[in-house]
Amino acid sequence: MTPRLFLALALWSSCMPSHGKPGASAALSLPRVYCRASRYPIAVDCSWTLPPALNSTRPVSFIATYRLGVAAQGESCPCLQLTPEATRCSIPDIRLFSMVPYVLNITAVHPWGTSSSFLPFIAEHIIKPDPPEGVHLWPLPGQKLQVRWEPPQSWPFPEIFLLKYKIRYKRHGTGRFRQVGPIEATSFTLKSLRSQARYFIQVAAEDLTDYGESSDWSLPATTLTMHD
Ligand SMILES: *[C@@H]1O[C@H](CO)[C@@H](O)[C@H](O)[C@H]1NC(C)=O
Ligand SMILES: *[C@@H]1O[C@H](CO)[C@@H](O)[C@H](O)[C@H]1NC(C)=O
Repeated sequence: MTPRLFLALALWSSCMPSHGKPGASAALSLPRVYCRASRYPIAVDCSWTLPPALNSTRPVSFIATYRLGVAAQGESCPCLQLTPEATRCSIPDIRLFSMVPYVLNITAVHPWGTSSSFLPFIAEHIIKPDPPEGVHLWPLPGQKLQVRWEPPQSWPFPEIFLLKYKIRYKRHGTGRFRQVGPIEATSFTLKSLRSQARYFIQVAAEDLTDYGESSDWSLPATTLTMHD
């Protein structure tokens, strides 16, 4: 699911004292919150920003809490921040395959009052691995190229929570990428490449069982000209 959709789904509310800043509308004062599980199942990492109008030089602190389930009586726990001013927090000890969503409550504390944003999510739905690492190219005889890579280091248990990979490549000077995969292996041999051409190759990772979204593409690996 896209972050945009999550934002649209986000329940939101705001509480401003009656001496609230004149003209500052409630909706404009809400932190915009984004969460993703790039180190599933160890933690969910969330970050937020304030609308530019409120992002003054004046320090603003945040109270970040979460609970499992939307019921108000649920126990709320701190989402771990390094400092109260930090604009990111982490939820440790994720309950896997929960039937009820987590609800994150980010409350911005302004000099004139507070405003809270709520973001409901299911951990599996916001999986987004970091890109694969160490993409290496090995030219093989016959205009072939072996591409090898490693799972992102931030993905804690690649042997348990398997990833699959997509490879895209294009010849220097051409506009379009060709894509192969998804495959489970961490290497792939591209065939029938043109000799004397230079290629750009990128790899992306996603959860094998299709939860969440694909990683961003890795940094491009490039070939020197291919040999015959
Ligand atoms: C305020 O703006 C700066 C620069 O645009 C940005 O780095 C920072 O994260 C913003 N702070 C908040 C709380 O949105
Ligand atoms: C959100 O967090 C703030 C600050 O801890 C708290 O005052 C408020 O009651 C919370 N809102 C909900 C709906 O839990």
